[in-house]
Amino acid sequence: MFEKKSGILLIAGVGFFAFAFLSNAVIPILMYRHLPEKTVLEVVNGNVRYQFEDLAQRYPDSFTAAYGEPPSDPEQAAEWYNAKCAEALELGRKVYIGEGCWHCHSQFVRPVSNEDRRWGPVSKSWEYQNRLQRPVMFGTRRVGPDLSREGGRRSNDWHAVHFYQPDMLSPKSPMPKYPWLFDGAPDKPNARGLALMTYVQWLGSWLESYPYYEDFQPTPIKTIAATEE
Ligand code: HEC
Repeated sequence: MFEKKSGILLIAGVGFFAFAFLSNAVIPILMYRHLPEKTVLEVVNGNVRYQFEDLAQRYPDSFTAAYGEPPSDPEQAAEWYNAKCAEALELGRKVYIGEGCWHCHSQFVRPVSNEDRRWGPVSKSWEYQNRLQRPVMFGTRRVGPDLSREGGRRSNDWHAVHFYQPDMLSPKSPMPKYPWLFDGAPDKPNARGLALMTYVQWLGSWLESYPYYEDFQPTPIKTIAATEE
């Protein structure tokens, strides 16, 4: 069978499929079978909570319309924010999938091509061991940047304007507009818009330090105005 082209094709097709299945599915399942899977509530952390409460302050009307009012007792309020933040993460992930964000964005920093210098620390297996990664959003290609370290890199306002009309912030951006995540203007995100921002701010928020791109500098407003002229 090795002399024939069809034999080689058979090995290339079935053989490498079997090898990939073994190395990418069977071995990881065996290696990580004892690692408990975190629930959505368990992946709410201080960084994403900060961003979520920031949304409440920036867009109070939108926020109240989506989630209601927090209880006045501070302890109950903390629990309330955690629960609502978990809710937002779940919806945000659905929006991310539904809007096809993963067609253009990956969520996996690979240990090759100096990716860590562009996007921050290389992704580790434990980062994917939770409900919000079922199934994982590795993505299929990279028209835009990898988003696994996006949390905290930009402000909520930046994301709001960018989702509303990407080329307002990133001239000639091929990223589509998502005006249906807003009730008319970028400062009026609806429940889905708020949820998507929470989700994007969550990505990488579980790491201990802000893993910005190596040469990342916040863009001064002046530079943006100058580019547009
Ligand atoms: C057609 C491909 C495409 C799709 C679909 C797309 N994006 Fe993008 N995205 C890009 C490109 C290209 C950039 C870089 C230019 C820019 O900033 O707009 C980008 C930039 C971004 C950034 C900024 C990253 C940074 O810090 O510089 C975020 C966040 C983002 N996209 C999130 C999303 C989300 C969420 C969705 C789905 C609602 C989405 N994108 C859909 C192509 C896409």
